[in-house]
Amino acid sequence: MALWLVFLLTIFTLTQSQNTAPFNQTDLQAAMTDMRSHSYYGFVILLKILNSQPNSLQNNDLTFLMPSDEQLSHFSITPLQLHDFLLSHSIPTPLVLNHLLHFPNGSVVPSSIPTKSINITNTGKSGLFVNNARIVTPNVCQTSLIRCHGISAALTFHTNLPLPPPSSEPKPPTIEQ
Ligand SMILES: *[C@@H]1O[C@H](CO)[C@@H](O)[C@H](O)[C@H]1NC(C)=O
Ligand SMILES: *[C@@H]1O[C@H](CO)[C@@H](O)[C@H](O)[C@H]1NC(C)=O
Ligand SMILES: *[C@@H]1O[C@H](CO)[C@@H](O)[C@H](O)[C@H]1NC(C)=O
Repeated sequence: MALWLVFLLTIFTLTQSQNTAPFNQTDLQAAMTDMRSHSYYGFVILLKILNSQPNSLQNNDLTFLMPSDEQLSHFSITPLQLHDFLLSHSIPTPLVLNHLLHFPNGSVVPSSIPTKSINITNTGKSGLFVNNARIVTPNVCQTSLIRCHGISAALTFHTNLPLPPPSSEPKPPTIEQ
């Protein structure tokens, strides 16, 4: 598992440093149309608010993990937490369900917030989990480079992963389900 982590981190670093093109808004609009067609309205609204702030999104190589409107309505996100919330609900590489299914069970991938990792657990019958959330509506985004999947809950994160050096920013509060 450790080797896989190093391997994946290498891939992510490479793909991230290679793509220097500016963020493609056409792709984002197409992804948001896909999200709306599956009723992920709340997530689209949050993305639009984030996107109204310059340079919040920098790379189109993205997989969003979207809690439903009902799940989103259960907790409060302050304007200051919006950026971290949305980026921690994304993986900085486009992954369809089939990719996720082929990760070794228990793989850990970084979210777009490097201090927050996402583990991928294949439970067989009860489905594929990203951290605490089950993937309930896979492959919602199909028409652009951006990928997205509906998940059963907002993600919670372990804070004790040995990935990055501690940052000076205050830790955002853990999001309760
Ligand atoms: C953005 O992506 C679309 C296809 O998804 C492509 O047609 C368009 O040329 C891209 N725009 C830029 C500025 O790269
Ligand atoms: C994946 O790992 C979890 C525990 O980490 C285990 O419960 C599950 O059965 C495993 N899935 C497969 C398909 O082996
Ligand atoms: C995966 O993440 C969930 C939620 O953060 C945690 O409860 C679980 O123990 C993690 N599993 C592994 C194998 O690290």
